[in-house]
Amino acid sequence: MSLFAIGDLHLHFQSELKAPGQLHDPVWKNHEEKFRENCSRLIREDDTLVLVGDHSWGKKLSQCEQDLRYIAALPGRKILTRGNHDMFWEAKKTAELNRQFQPELTFLQDGYAVYHDYALVATKGHTFEGPFYLNRVSRQIIGWDETAEEHSKKLVARELIRLRTSFELARQDGFRKFIMFLHYPPTNILEKRSGFTDIAEEYGAEQVIYAHSHGESRFHDSIEGTFRGRLYRLVSGDYLRWIPLKLLE
Ligand SMILES: [Fe+2]
Ligand SMILES: [Fe+2]
Repeated sequence: MSLFAIGDLHLHFQSELKAPGQLHDPVWKNHEEKFRENCSRLIREDDTLVLVGDHSWGKKLSQCEQDLRYIAALPGRKILTRGNHDMFWEAKKTAELNRQFQPELTFLQDGYAVYHDYALVATKGHTFEGPFYLNRVSRQIIGWDETAEEHSKKLVARELIRLRTSFELARQDGFRKFIMFLHYPPTNILEKRSGFTDIAEEYGAEQVIYAHSHGESRFHDSIEGTFRGRLYRLVSGDYLRWIPLKLLE
């Protein structure tokens, strides 16, 4: 029994592709097929695969049905968490999605999932992504849009509450071992630490898994490897070359 993760599949079997680069970049060419093959090679029926957001380009559930069927047909237990592009999934409709798709798919939001003696805790997260103003010569950041930053702080605050609530629910139920999943990176390019890294430390999450940074220029936007006792791992699909990352045996 193993635990795997990957994010940013950005499927579009029935919806408009909103990142045309996906058509031309070799890493994205037939990525659905590559990923399906890698899953059937690596994942057994008693394994768990956590898909860390940006599942589909579809805006409405009716535009995501084939994408979700593709995911449901992959081997193992599938747990989905929310990404910024998952317009089909409003947080308050999570119970409805679970009624519709369980047991094939589990939509995880404002709660936790169990893997052995671990609680898997997930939220979308948020990071401020600019606009940043650069010195063209030195390529250093010399400022940023402060209005956008203020708005971003509100989204971060809301996500931190959701994350803490999920950890608390798991802790009340007796869990002491945690893996934490975010869609956004835990820090933005201006930060060394954040509210998300603080919560990971406070609850003792062993690993912090995140995605959202895809395209080579963004692979190193946040923390990688061991930092203050936690293991931080980027799992965006193109970064992993569509090979799901094994988190636990
Ligand atoms: Fe994405
Ligand atoms: Fe994203």
